[in-house]
Amino acid sequence: MDLRYFRRYASVAQLVEQGTLNPLVVGSSPARCTKKIYPPGWIFLFRRAKVGSTMSLFSFMKSTVLDLKTVGTLSPASSFTAKRVGNALPPNAKTVLELGAGDGAITRTLLERLSPDARLLAVEMKPEFAAVLEAIGDARLSVYTGDALQIKNEAASRGFVSFDVIVSSLPFALFPEAARDSLLNDIFDLLAPGGVIIVCQHMPTLLPALKEKYHIDIQVEPLNMPPYFILRGTKR
Ligand SMILES: C[S@@+](CC[C@H](N)C(=O)[O-])C[C@H]1O[C@@H](n2cnc3c(N)ncnc32)[C@H](O)[C@@H]1O
Repeated sequence: MDLRYFRRYASVAQLVEQGTLNPLVVGSSPARCTKKIYPPGWIFLFRRAKVGSTMSLFSFMKSTVLDLKTVGTLSPASSFTAKRVGNALPPNAKTVLELGAGDGAITRTLLERLSPDARLLAVEMKPEFAAVLEAIGDARLSVYTGDALQIKNEAASRGFVSFDVIVSSLPFALFPEAARDSLLNDIFDLLAPGGVIIVCQHMPTLLPALKEKYHIDIQVEPLNMPPYFILRGTKR
């Protein structure tokens, strides 16, 4: 959306840029709008972004366009993907690591499914996504804004010895081979005996490597843009 169009309504443009208003949703109920700050006529163009909600599709795609190699996808995981990942969680998982959490499309579902005494460490390299994760404000969630390649040290410094589950939607296919192999080794070391790894990939390039160390179950989620392969592995 070209925000120059809204410059006369500086406060509205500012709120959109901050992510407080979501400009992509047309037809929101006027009851959800604050008429004081919206000029009449615009109230149907915006809705107030929920505290702790994912960022707008517009903002996510902006990050994709600016840095496709890091983000590695066109859009956030769909609710269908998030549900499938949630369903793949083993019962009684207490310690969960999520690598490449983005703006929390999967994180939120994990938090819905986890018990009150569980802990979730979300790792995200891009600060604009990590800020959205921080805003979730769930006491069980901690966010590491940085490189997943540092996860071993970072997890240890936060008191995590191992994880029952590791979820990843990192764009592994775009990683240099050495980085990919090093991270796969770290993941294996960090996973508790019998632990579960859940990997979302648009192309299942990790499958051969994962098969060497895990019992793998493969699902496909077509209702995602693009569709996801969801690889669920149990540590041998
Ligand atoms: C395909 S997106 C998935 C985002 C989110 N989990 C979802 O499903 O909507 C991959 C995410 O991994 C992050 N990422 C890529 N390389 C990373 C790295 N080395 N360390 C941490 N995060 C990384 C990107 O910034 C991006 O948010």
